[in-house]
Amino acid sequence: MLEVQRHSPRPRPNGLNKALPLVDLAPAASDLRRDALAGLCATPKTLPCKYFYDDHGSWLFDQICTLPEYYPTRTELVISRRYAAEIAAACGPQALLLELGSGSSTKTRIILDHLRAPAGYVPVDIARDFLRHAADELAAAYPGLPVVPVCADFTQPFTPPALAARRTIVYFPGSTIGNFTADDAAELLRTIAGLMGPEGGLLIGVDLRKDPNMLVRAYNDARGVTAAFNLNLLTRLNRELSADFDLAHFQHRATWDPTPGRIEMQLVSKRDQAVHIDDQSIEFRAGEPIRTEYSHKYTLDQFASMASTAGLAVRKVWTDHARLFSVQYLTRA
Ligand code: TRP
Repeated sequence: MLEVQRHSPRPRPNGLNKALPLVDLAPAASDLRRDALAGLCATPKTLPCKYFYDDHGSWLFDQICTLPEYYPTRTELVISRRYAAEIAAACGPQALLLELGSGSSTKTRIILDHLRAPAGYVPVDIARDFLRHAADELAAAYPGLPVVPVCADFTQPFTPPALAARRTIVYFPGSTIGNFTADDAAELLRTIAGLMGPEGGLLIGVDLRKDPNMLVRAYNDARGVTAAFNLNLLTRLNRELSADFDLAHFQHRATWDPTPGRIEMQLVSKRDQAVHIDDQSIEFRAGEPIRTEYSHKYTLDQFASMASTAGLAVRKVWTDHARLFSVQYLTRA
């Protein structure tokens, strides 16, 4: 990305930094209809996981991140705090931080607190109001930092705003990369390499292989928050597409599949039933699943070799003592 125009980064006279106007590249409502119908008419049935993140889904996801069973967020925070100085040194001075799937931008603060003279922050997220709120809160906490929220589906090509910076660091925490199949993940890494430019870097959170029992618990918590998050996808289809899913007749399920090395999340039909969207009738048999998400877990070697197919080289890896999770810094090979 080339550095062209300069947004005015000065704090406002009252000292309260405000996020700059949101850049709205959000997918059209018609995309949800098209994608949902295509997925539900396929065999096996699927729904794209990006649609989890409406405003309520984003809020539920924040609740997941605080659950005792959900170790990834906690562990990534520990690693980020412990190695903050090294991470910031790898990113270098006057960097623009471009975050994909920024949510509530919690981890970002640790990075921003340690970066030397950060040039700006561009949070990219698909949940518009949630993003706007998070960007305003973050801007208020960082006087003088230009914050430009972009509402976009980062799995589709988009052009981020050009801000003057020495380099762009793409920040992709939360092991969101794990939610893509190996092919899609490699393609996304190539897109990221483009966003970074030749001088830039990628700071990414990657969840690691571990005891399957610990994994299954992380995606099927005792309080049922993950179940509520999964089922919220059907609530969204009912609201936005006037579908007629009866939530009492679908059940959350998370299983570990050792060969590809991934958790698979499903919504399982509890009985034979038909659901309607527009004039389409979608038939379910008892026990039939809708696959809603994968969460791939990598070894360090597996991730490095996937990154290399995208022209990226792992330069630094930080992990916790139990090697549950990793934070990695990559540049173009
Ligand atoms: N990136 C997160 C992960 O794979 C997303 C996630 C966590 C998630 N828990 C979930 C997605 C439950 C759907 C359902 O860990």
